Amino acid sequence: MDISTFPLPDLNNLPRNAKISANQPPLLQDVVEHITTVIHVLNVCLTIYVLYLCFLSPFSLVTWHVFLYTLGWTLLMTEGILTVIKENIFTKRIQQPVRVHIHWATLLLATELIIGGLGTIVWNRSRVIGSHFLTEHGISGIVATVCAFITVLNGIPALYSVQLRKIIPPTINKLFHAFFGFATVVAGAYATITGYYTGWFRNRSSDTVIIVCFIVTVALTVWCMVRPLVNGFTRIRNLCN
Ligand code: HEM
Repeated sequence: MDISTFPLPDLNNLPRNAKISANQPPLLQDVVEHITTVIHVLNVCLTIYVLYLCFLSPFSLVTWHVFLYTLGWTLLMTEGILTVIKENIFTKRIQQPVRVHIHWATLLLATELIIGGLGTIVWNRSRVIGSHFLTEHGISGIVATVCAFITVLNGIPALYSVQLRKIIPPTINKLFHAFFGFATVVAGAYATITGYYTGWFRNRSSDTVIIVCFIVTVALTVWCMVRPLVNGFTRIRNLCN
Protein backbone atom coordinates (compact mmCIF):
# COMPACT_ATOMS: atom_id res chain seq x y z
CA MET A 1 0.00 0.00 0.00
CA ASP A 2 3.89 2.36 -0.66
CA ILE A 3 1.58 3.41 0.45
CA SER A 4 4.78 3.90 0.98
CA THR A 5 7.32 2.68 1.94
CA PHE A 6 5.58 3.33 2.52
CA PRO A 7 8.78 4.80 3.67
CA LEU A 8 10.88 4.15 0.73
CA PRO A 9 13.39 2.29 2.75
CA ASP A 10 16.36 3.69 1.00
CA LEU A 11 18.67 2.34 3.64
CA ASN A 12 21.69 3.31 1.56
CA ASN A 13 21.05 6.94 2.40
CA LEU A 14 21.05 6.36 6.11
CA PRO A 15 24.18 6.89 8.15
CA ARG A 16 26.24 3.72 8.50
CA ASN A 17 25.21 3.13 12.08
CA ALA A 18 21.57 3.40 11.05
CA LYS A 19 21.58 0.43 8.67
CA ILE A 20 19.06 -1.90 10.07
CA SER A 21 19.03 -5.08 8.10
CA ALA A 22 22.76 -5.00 7.36
CA ASN A 23 23.33 -5.42 11.09
CA GLN A 24 20.86 -8.26 11.40
CA PRO A 25 22.36 -11.59 12.41
CA PRO A 26 22.01 -14.15 9.54
CA LEU A 27 19.61 -16.27 11.58
CA LEU A 28 17.27 -13.32 12.13
CA GLN A 29 17.51 -12.45 8.43
CA ASP A 30 16.51 -16.04 7.55
CA VAL A 31 13.57 -15.92 9.94
CA VAL A 32 12.41 -12.59 8.49
CA GLU A 33 12.72 -14.03 4.97
CA HIS A 34 10.66 -17.12 5.84
CA ILE A 35 7.96 -15.04 7.50
CA THR A 36 7.85 -12.75 4.45
CA THR A 37 7.40 -15.80 2.22
CA VAL A 38 4.51 -17.03 4.38
CA ILE A 39 2.99 -13.54 4.09
CA HIS A 40 3.18 -13.76 0.26
CA VAL A 41 1.37 -17.11 0.37
CA LEU A 42 -1.32 -15.81 2.76
CA ASN A 43 -1.82 -12.74 0.59
CA VAL A 44 -2.26 -14.78 -2.58
CA CYS A 45 -4.63 -17.26 -0.84
CA LEU A 46 -6.76 -14.44 0.59
CA THR A 47 -6.91 -12.74 -2.81
CA ILE A 48 -7.88 -15.96 -4.61
CA TYR A 49 -10.57 -16.68 -2.02
CA VAL A 50 -12.22 -13.23 -2.29
CA LEU A 51 -11.97 -13.28 -6.11
CA TYR A 52 -13.61 -16.72 -6.02
CA LEU A 53 -16.50 -15.21 -4.01
CA CYS A 54 -16.87 -12.57 -6.72
CA PHE A 55 -17.55 -15.26 -9.31
CA LEU A 56 -20.25 -17.01 -7.26
CA SER A 57 -22.95 -14.81 -8.82
CA PRO A 58 -23.22 -12.48 -11.81
CA PHE A 59 -21.10 -9.35 -11.48
CA SER A 60 -22.89 -6.34 -9.98
CA LEU A 61 -21.38 -2.90 -9.25
CA VAL A 62 -20.70 -4.00 -5.65
CA THR A 63 -18.95 -7.12 -6.90
CA TRP A 64 -16.80 -4.98 -9.21
CA HIS A 65 -15.95 -2.86 -6.15
CA VAL A 66 -14.81 -5.93 -4.19
CA PHE A 67 -12.99 -7.39 -7.20
CA LEU A 68 -11.02 -4.21 -8.00
CA TYR A 69 -10.19 -3.37 -4.37
CA THR A 70 -9.09 -6.94 -3.68
CA LEU A 71 -6.70 -6.92 -6.64
CA GLY A 72 -5.54 -3.34 -6.09
CA TRP A 73 -5.55 -3.11 -2.32
CA THR A 74 -5.11 -6.54 -0.83
CA LEU A 75 -2.83 -8.04 -3.48
CA LEU A 76 -0.87 -5.24 -5.15
CA MET A 77 -0.55 -2.79 -2.27
CA THR A 78 0.79 -5.51 -0.01
CA GLU A 79 3.15 -6.91 -2.63
CA GLY A 80 4.23 -3.37 -3.56
CA ILE A 81 5.26 -2.69 0.03
CA LEU A 82 7.03 -6.03 0.28
CA THR A 83 9.16 -5.34 -2.83
CA VAL A 84 11.32 -2.94 -0.87
CA ILE A 85 11.91 -5.37 1.96
CA LYS A 86 15.36 -6.91 1.61
CA GLU A 87 14.20 -10.30 2.83
CA ASN A 88 11.77 -10.78 -0.05
CA ILE A 89 12.75 -13.92 -1.97
CA PHE A 90 11.40 -12.46 -5.23
CA THR A 91 13.31 -9.18 -5.11
CA LYS A 92 16.30 -9.73 -2.84
CA ARG A 93 18.69 -10.18 -5.77
CA ILE A 94 17.48 -7.00 -7.45
CA GLN A 95 19.38 -3.80 -6.75
CA GLN A 96 17.79 -1.28 -4.41
CA PRO A 97 17.08 1.42 -7.07
CA VAL A 98 15.33 -1.14 -9.30
CA ARG A 99 13.36 -2.45 -6.32
CA VAL A 100 12.17 1.07 -5.58
CA HIS A 101 11.01 1.45 -9.20
CA ILE A 102 9.12 -1.86 -9.06
CA HIS A 103 7.65 -0.66 -5.77
CA TRP A 104 6.18 2.58 -7.13
CA ALA A 105 5.12 1.02 -10.45
CA THR A 106 3.17 -1.66 -8.54
CA LEU A 107 1.57 0.95 -6.34
CA LEU A 108 0.66 3.08 -9.32
CA LEU A 109 -1.12 0.09 -10.89
CA ALA A 110 -2.82 -0.61 -7.54
CA THR A 111 -4.02 3.01 -7.39
CA GLU A 112 -5.62 2.70 -10.83
CA LEU A 113 -7.55 -0.41 -9.76
CA ILE A 114 -8.59 1.38 -6.57
CA ILE A 115 -9.94 4.34 -8.55
CA GLY A 116 -12.09 1.82 -10.45
CA GLY A 117 -13.19 0.14 -7.20
CA LEU A 118 -14.16 3.47 -5.66
CA GLY A 119 -15.97 4.60 -8.81
CA THR A 120 -18.15 1.48 -9.01
CA ILE A 121 -19.25 1.59 -5.35
CA VAL A 122 -19.92 5.34 -5.37
CA TRP A 123 -21.96 4.90 -8.55
CA ASN A 124 -23.87 2.00 -6.98
CA ARG A 125 -24.64 3.92 -3.77
CA SER A 126 -25.75 6.97 -5.77
CA ARG A 127 -28.24 4.79 -7.64
CA VAL A 128 -29.49 2.73 -4.69
CA ILE A 129 -29.15 4.92 -1.59
CA GLY A 130 -28.07 8.39 -2.67
CA SER A 131 -25.77 9.03 0.31
CA HIS A 132 -22.07 8.33 0.69
CA PHE A 133 -19.44 7.46 3.25
CA LEU A 134 -21.80 6.95 6.17
CA THR A 135 -20.85 3.44 7.30
CA GLU A 136 -17.69 2.53 9.26
CA HIS A 137 -16.54 0.68 6.16
CA GLY A 138 -17.27 3.58 3.82
CA ILE A 139 -15.58 6.18 6.07
CA SER A 140 -12.42 4.14 6.66
CA GLY A 141 -12.40 3.18 2.96
CA ILE A 142 -12.49 6.78 1.73
CA VAL A 143 -9.86 7.83 4.31
CA ALA A 144 -7.61 4.97 3.17
CA THR A 145 -8.15 5.79 -0.50
CA VAL A 146 -7.38 9.51 -0.07
CA CYS A 147 -4.29 8.67 2.03
CA ALA A 148 -3.20 6.22 -0.67
CA PHE A 149 -3.30 8.97 -3.31
CA ILE A 150 -1.33 11.33 -1.07
CA THR A 151 1.23 8.64 -0.37
CA VAL A 152 1.65 7.73 -4.01
CA LEU A 153 2.02 11.43 -4.89
CA ASN A 154 4.52 12.16 -2.15
CA GLY A 155 6.39 9.03 -3.19
CA ILE A 156 7.65 11.15 -6.13
CA PRO A 157 9.67 13.57 -3.95
CA ALA A 158 10.74 10.59 -1.82
CA LEU A 159 12.00 8.91 -4.99
CA TYR A 160 14.07 12.00 -5.84
CA SER A 161 15.03 12.76 -2.24
CA VAL A 162 18.74 13.04 -3.07
CA GLN A 163 18.17 15.53 -5.92
CA LEU A 164 15.71 17.52 -3.78
CA ARG A 165 17.90 17.55 -0.65
CA LYS A 166 18.55 21.32 -0.93
CA ILE A 167 14.82 22.01 -0.79
CA ILE A 168 13.76 19.36 1.71
CA PRO A 169 16.08 17.14 3.80
CA PRO A 170 15.81 13.48 2.62
CA THR A 171 14.98 12.28 6.13
CA ILE A 172 12.01 14.66 6.46
CA ASN A 173 10.92 13.83 2.93
CA LYS A 174 10.87 10.10 3.64
CA LEU A 175 9.34 10.49 7.08
CA PHE A 176 6.44 12.37 5.51
CA HIS A 177 6.00 9.58 2.98
CA ALA A 178 6.21 7.00 5.78
CA PHE A 179 3.63 8.81 7.88
CA PHE A 180 1.01 8.83 5.11
CA GLY A 181 1.95 5.28 4.20
CA PHE A 182 1.30 4.18 7.76
CA ALA A 183 -2.07 5.99 7.90
CA THR A 184 -3.04 4.41 4.58
CA VAL A 185 -2.22 0.88 5.65
CA VAL A 186 -4.03 1.18 8.98
CA ALA A 187 -7.15 2.77 7.47
CA GLY A 188 -7.08 0.27 4.59
CA ALA A 189 -6.84 -2.69 6.97
CA TYR A 190 -9.84 -1.36 8.90
CA ALA A 191 -11.80 -0.91 5.66
CA THR A 192 -10.90 -4.39 4.47
CA ILE A 193 -11.90 -6.01 7.77
CA THR A 194 -15.20 -4.10 7.96
CA GLY A 195 -15.71 -5.18 4.31
CA TYR A 196 -15.78 -8.80 5.58
CA TYR A 197 -18.78 -7.86 7.75
CA THR A 198 -20.87 -6.31 4.95
CA GLY A 199 -23.92 -8.17 3.70
CA TRP A 200 -22.17 -8.91 0.40
CA PHE A 201 -19.42 -10.88 2.12
CA ARG A 202 -21.51 -12.53 4.84
CA ASN A 203 -23.98 -13.85 2.28
CA ARG A 204 -21.19 -15.67 0.47
CA SER A 205 -19.04 -16.80 3.37
CA SER A 206 -19.26 -18.40 6.82
CA ASP A 207 -18.44 -16.86 10.21
CA THR A 208 -15.39 -19.10 10.59
CA VAL A 209 -13.95 -18.11 7.22
CA ILE A 210 -14.57 -14.44 8.03
CA ILE A 211 -12.49 -14.85 11.20
CA VAL A 212 -9.72 -16.51 9.17
CA CYS A 213 -9.81 -13.61 6.65
CA PHE A 214 -9.70 -11.18 9.58
CA ILE A 215 -6.61 -12.86 11.09
CA VAL A 216 -4.83 -13.07 7.74
CA THR A 217 -5.51 -9.37 7.07
CA VAL A 218 -4.12 -8.41 10.49
CA ALA A 219 -1.01 -10.54 9.84
CA LEU A 220 -0.45 -8.93 6.42
CA THR A 221 -0.90 -5.45 7.88
CA VAL A 222 1.40 -5.98 10.84
CA TRP A 223 4.14 -7.46 8.67
CA CYS A 224 3.91 -4.62 6.14
CA MET A 225 4.28 -2.09 8.94
CA VAL A 226 7.23 -3.56 10.81
CA ARG A 227 10.10 -2.46 8.53
CA PRO A 228 8.69 1.01 7.76
CA LEU A 229 8.15 1.57 11.49
CA VAL A 230 11.68 0.47 12.37
CA ASN A 231 13.12 2.67 9.59
CA GLY A 232 10.93 5.59 10.67
CA PHE A 233 12.05 5.34 14.31
CA THR A 234 15.68 5.06 13.19
CA ARG A 235 15.32 8.21 11.11
CA ILE A 236 13.66 10.10 13.96
CA ARG A 237 16.40 8.94 16.35
CA ASN A 238 19.06 10.11 13.88
CA LEU A 239 17.30 13.45 13.50
CA CYS A 240 17.31 13.92 17.28
CA ASN A 241 21.00 12.99 17.65
C1 HEM B 1 -13.56 -7.82 0.99
C2 HEM B 1 -13.46 -6.57 0.75
C3 HEM B 1 -14.60 -5.59 0.61
C4 HEM B 1 -15.96 -5.79 0.57
C5 HEM B 1 -16.72 -7.10 0.66
C6 HEM B 1 -16.58 -4.50 0.41
C7 HEM B 1 -17.94 -4.27 0.32
C8 HEM B 1 -18.55 -3.03 0.29
C9 HEM B 1 -19.96 -2.78 0.29
C10 HEM B 1 -21.03 -3.87 0.34
C11 HEM B 1 -20.16 -1.43 0.25
C12 HEM B 1 -21.52 -0.68 0.25
C13 HEM B 1 -22.03 -0.54 1.64
C14 HEM B 1 -21.24 0.37 2.54
O1 HEM B 1 -21.02 1.54 2.21
O2 HEM B 1 -20.86 -0.10 3.64
C15 HEM B 1 -18.87 -0.82 0.25
C16 HEM B 1 -18.64 0.54 0.25
C17 HEM B 1 -17.39 1.15 0.26
N1 HEM B 1 -16.17 0.49 0.25
FE1 HEM B 1 -15.88 -1.52 0.28
N2 HEM B 1 -15.60 -3.55 0.36
C18 HEM B 1 -14.38 -4.18 0.49
C19 HEM B 1 -13.12 -3.59 0.51
C20 HEM B 1 -12.90 -2.22 0.53
C21 HEM B 1 -11.59 -1.61 0.69
C22 HEM B 1 -10.29 -2.37 0.88
C23 HEM B 1 -11.79 -0.26 0.62
C24 HEM B 1 -10.79 0.86 0.73
C25 HEM B 1 -9.59 0.75 1.21
C26 HEM B 1 -13.21 -0.03 0.42
C27 HEM B 1 -13.81 1.21 0.28
C28 HEM B 1 -15.17 1.46 0.25
C29 HEM B 1 -15.78 2.77 0.25
C30 HEM B 1 -15.03 4.11 0.25
C31 HEM B 1 -17.16 2.58 0.26
C32 HEM B 1 -18.25 3.66 0.35
C33 HEM B 1 -18.80 4.15 -0.94
C34 HEM B 1 -19.90 5.17 -0.70
O3 HEM B 1 -20.35 5.36 0.44
O4 HEM B 1 -20.31 5.79 -1.69
N3 HEM B 1 -13.85 -1.25 0.36
N4 HEM B 1 -17.90 -1.81 0.26
